[in-house]
Amino acid sequence: MSSLNAKQESAIGVFDSGMGGLTVLSALTQVLPQEKFVYLGDTARLPYGTKSKTTVERYALQAAGLLVQRGVKALVVACNTASGMALPSLQAAFANLPIFGVVEPGAQAAAQVADDSGILVLATETTIRGGAYQQALAGLLKGSRVPIYGRSCPLWVTLAEQGRQSWTLTEAVLKDSLRGFLSRGPKTILLGCTHFPVFAENLNTILPSGVNVVDSAQTTAKAVKAALTARDLLNRADGGSKEYGGPTEYFATDGADRFIQVGSTFLGAAIPQVQLIDI
Ligand code: DGL
Repeated sequence: MSSLNAKQESAIGVFDSGMGGLTVLSALTQVLPQEKFVYLGDTARLPYGTKSKTTVERYALQAAGLLVQRGVKALVVACNTASGMALPSLQAAFANLPIFGVVEPGAQAAAQVADDSGILVLATETTIRGGAYQQALAGLLKGSRVPIYGRSCPLWVTLAEQGRQSWTLTEAVLKDSLRGFLSRGPKTILLGCTHFPVFAENLNTILPSGVNVVDSAQTTAKAVKAALTARDLLNRADGGSKEYGGPTEYFATDGADRFIQVGSTFLGAAIPQVQLIDI
């Protein structure tokens, strides 16, 4: 086996502060069924979305370092907060590794469907404060008159990690975050946090009809596929006909049992085993 083949057969690393990145992993496994994945949720240090840039950068470098040690051929930063705060540092630290964030693909998904009523970005406090989405959207929509709004949703990550979609309190929290935008609001809502797609059904009942809710999962998966194809890094272990790259390995820095129980609602599939790891 040549060393190049060994690289093509290596896993793709995916990380998030917790289980939110599983919504991106779900799209990745659909778009790249022949690939193997290693997922890390830094659950011991979640949330990232209330922390400073310096801290998020440090956490992201450590999480990425762990996956790099495991020999991944590419890295997906399945966390908007880490993508917005730490992508340049990650790309500088691991210069030979293809590294993908979720902010640019998320912005593309929203820009594709947006109209003049505008785009509302819902994300963590750190993502909204950092302005990564506002910048990415402004770049993509240059010359148009689409207004861009941002709102931080501080409690959503906690509710999502606890699997509280059907709680009465959850509906109240979601409605509170959307206050002022429910009537005559922007017709495109961008879920700028990978935890938020688990509230898709809740949002469906709260939002007026005609509002598009988009996230970065599908566009990220397509961007990863295109880039790995261009670099000849796709797994072709059996000539490309293999449909399943092998079982995903799951790592978490805390709460393996909760990860197994709640994680399946993020992934849309069972998670048989999670290994605890220290970073
Ligand atoms: N899932 C992460 C994101 O996309 C953030 C969750 C957190 O605050 O840790 O921003």
